[in-house]
Amino acid sequence: MNEVTLQPCTKAIAGEITIPGDKSISHRAVILGSMAKGTTRITNFLDSEDCKRTINAFQALGVSIDKNDTSILVESNGISTFTEPQTPLFFGNSGTTARLMLGVLAGLPFFSTVYGDPFLTKRPMDRVTIPLQRMGTIFDGREKGGYLPLSVRGGDLQGITYALPVKSAQVKSAILLAGLLAKGETTVIEETPTRNHTEQMLRAFGADITIKGNGITITSQKHLDATDVHVPGDISSASFFLVAAAIVPGSNLILRNVGLNKTRTGIIDVLKRMGANIHIQNQSTTSGEVFGDIEITYANLRSTTIEGDVIPRLIDEIPVIALLATQAEGTTIIKNAEELRVKETDRIAAIVDNLSRLGARIEATQDGMIIQGKTVLRGGKIASYHDHRIAMTNVIASLIASEPVILDDSSSIAISYPKFFEDLKLILNE
Ligand code: S3P
Repeated sequence: MNEVTLQPCTKAIAGEITIPGDKSISHRAVILGSMAKGTTRITNFLDSEDCKRTINAFQALGVSIDKNDTSILVESNGISTFTEPQTPLFFGNSGTTARLMLGVLAGLPFFSTVYGDPFLTKRPMDRVTIPLQRMGTIFDGREKGGYLPLSVRGGDLQGITYALPVKSAQVKSAILLAGLLAKGETTVIEETPTRNHTEQMLRAFGADITIKGNGITITSQKHLDATDVHVPGDISSASFFLVAAAIVPGSNLILRNVGLNKTRTGIIDVLKRMGANIHIQNQSTTSGEVFGDIEITYANLRSTTIEGDVIPRLIDEIPVIALLATQAEGTTIIKNAEELRVKETDRIAAIVDNLSRLGARIEATQDGMIIQGKTVLRGGKIASYHDHRIAMTNVIASLIASEPVILDDSSSIAISYPKFFEDLKLILNE
């Protein structure tokens, strides 16, 4: 446990931060670089605990991966040279590693066992094992293979057409990765678009992938071509500072190198709707992904309703958006976000617990929450629930609290943003 006492900030936030690499894209760069034949250089990789789990998994399959901070060199002879892992694969806290690796292992002709930390062990895996079983993989584990630890007997897959029952990019990605190794075509149908980094990157590595309406089809292909990947900054990490500048009076902040893929920018749309003063500059594209700088200046905020198709575009930002809503005039309603119940922790319960302890007027609903603003937050003891995004939301809340805030444990922040406190210090000007 790493308890920290957080002091309210006494001055406006000002300055610049270059946002570290995107977590989702970093995982995928290692996955596809490992599956491709040749050398893949990844730059601006997110050097975090979750992403290291994916590196370790492919090293256990025999791929050569060298890491030098944020630069990664992957040298692989392709999928056909992967070797059966001799020991169980440990995915730590990483849901993305678990779901996407299950998609890869599903198509490999050998036996593996996989497990995670106590938090990942509670998260549902049947959302991937059900479609992968239909493709031909044999899983065993608690509750018919619904939870880690799992054993996997892969290989000999058949393509399927699968309509996603949950709005999940991890599930879509697992099926597409398995589809690459399956006979024939595999189609995933998603009613609501989720982050499309897997599709973009599969294309960059030469996969045959077509998108028609809400169907994404991949054709069997055992050979991918290595290519270099530059990872843009993670908008989910940037969102903590966007909200900090939006709630600390007088603030002005520039966040550089932020990924602006349309399937991820829901927070920018919501900030604008709530009256934030936000501008995007210097846009360009890298490995098919748009990125640029975001400038935000403090302004008075008003409430809004967040629901429907925007939810997958900001799902990881909802904890910090709830904090934002405590500082907006009126009633903010968040709906259709039941997926929050099965994240690193039950994020609806965790947010409502913490923000209520600080005096916010917030109530949980089955699929979201209702927040009345604007409220002065007080100090107190709050909890991370070993969830990185809950911990960072708590730190940002402490900036506007009237008294110090004690956070029980900040260690989970290393899961996605090891340099979070260093970057925060850059803009506090104290
Ligand atoms: C992710 C997808 C989302 C997101 C997670 C990362 C990904 O999860 O919450 O942090 O990289 O594909 P779901 O697919 O479960 O919605």
